[in-house]
Amino acid sequence: MKNDTKLIHLGRGEPGQEGTVNLPIHRASTIVYSNVASYLSRFDGERRYRAITYGANGTHNARALADAVSELEGGYGTVVTGTGLSAITMTLAALTRSGDHILVTDSVYGPTRKFCDTVLTRYRVETTYYPPAADISGLLRPNTKLVFTEAPGSLTFEMQDIPAITESVHAHGALVVMDNTWGTPLFFKPIEHGVDVSIQAGTKYIAGHSDLVIGMITADDEAIYRQLFDATRSFGDVAGPDDCYLALRGFRTLGVRLRQQQENALIVAQWLHDRDEVEQVLYPPLPSDPGHAIWQRDFAGAASVFGVTLKTADSSAIEAMVNHLGLFQIGSSWGGYESLVAVNKTPLERAHVHWDHVPLLLRLHVGLEDPGDLIADLEAGFERLNGKS
Ligand SMILES: Cc1ncc(COP(=O)(O)O)c(C=O)c1O
Repeated sequence: MKNDTKLIHLGRGEPGQEGTVNLPIHRASTIVYSNVASYLSRFDGERRYRAITYGANGTHNARALADAVSELEGGYGTVVTGTGLSAITMTLAALTRSGDHILVTDSVYGPTRKFCDTVLTRYRVETTYYPPAADISGLLRPNTKLVFTEAPGSLTFEMQDIPAITESVHAHGALVVMDNTWGTPLFFKPIEHGVDVSIQAGTKYIAGHSDLVIGMITADDEAIYRQLFDATRSFGDVAGPDDCYLALRGFRTLGVRLRQQQENALIVAQWLHDRDEVEQVLYPPLPSDPGHAIWQRDFAGAASVFGVTLKTADSSAIEAMVNHLGLFQIGSSWGGYESLVAVNKTPLERAHVHWDHVPLLLRLHVGLEDPGDLIADLEAGFERLNGKS
C-alpha cells in the first residue's frame, strides 16, 4: 500500500465487518472481566503490550492510533503519549540512566532542552549540545548513550545529515532519537534512514486542527519498544480516547492537508524571500537555504512552517507589522489548518550561535487559506513596518 492508502485504511479494524466507518470512542477507566482467571492473566505474555486492561494503560482508540502510526513510520511499535513533549521526555527517561552522556542538537525544541538541563541533570545524565551541521563523531564519548536530533531544528530550521549521524552513532554502539514533527511520517521516514526512535508531536500535522495535544513514539525494534512502553506505563503517561479519536481522524487527511500547505507555504516563502525588508527565509525547500541539498536528498516534501529574519533592528516596527495581521494570528503552535505567526525574542537559548543579530525572529505557519490572501495580509504588514521604521 502507498502512503495515501495507508492513511485511509490503517487503524480501522478488520475490513468487511458491519458497523461504523470509524472506531467508536471507548471511554474507560475500568475494564471488567468475566472470571478470576482472565483477570489474573491480563498482563501475561504478549497481553502486557496488546490487551486493553485499564484506562491509564490506553484504550482501543490509543491502540488503533498507535498501530496506524507504527505502520506508516515502518516501525516495530508505537506508544501514544499525552503530549508531544511527553513523547520526548518519556523517551529520554526510558533510554538513559545515571552516568550516561547524551548529545542533543543545539536547535532542539526549547522545552526538550529545558528537560535535559533540569530533570536529566538532576538524574546525573549529562547533555552536550552540538551545532546542527557538525560532524558529531568526535563528540561521542564512551558513555554516550544516545543522540537526539531534530531536522530541521526548531525556530532556525537548520537541516542535519541524518544518515551520516546514524552511521557514526551506530558504529559507536549508541542510539539515534529524532523529533520528526516537521517531516511527519509522510515527508521523512526516520526509521528508513537508520533512526532508532522516531517521535511525533501529533498535536501538529497529524491532529491538524489545533484542538488537542498528543504524542507518538515509534521504535524500530521490539526491545526498545518494550522499554518505551513500560516507561510510559510506569510514569502514567497516556492520551485520552477522545484525543486519540480526533488524532486518528486528522490522520485520514494528513496527506492532502500537507501537500496543499506545502504548496501554499512555498508560494508565501518565495514571495518573502524576494522582499527587500527580509534578511533571510529559513526554509530548507528554498534553493537559497543552506540545508537545501540535504533536504532535497532525504525528504519527500516540506512542512508549512519556517523562520523569517527581517533587516530592521526596530522591534516596535516588527510589532506594528505583526499586531494587525488579519489572517496570520499570533500563536505558538503549528500544523493546524490555519495560518499563524510566532514572534521569538533573541538571543535564543543556544550553546553555539545565539541569533542575536536580529531583535525578533519570526516563525510563520502557512495554513490552507488562499496564498494570495496570505500575501496580501503580509504586504499590508510590510507597509506598517515601513511606516514605522
Ligand atoms: C518540534 C516540536 N516538538 C515537540 C513539540 C511538543 O509538542 P506538544 O505541544 O504536543 O507537547 C513541539 C511543540 O511546539 C514542537 O514544535
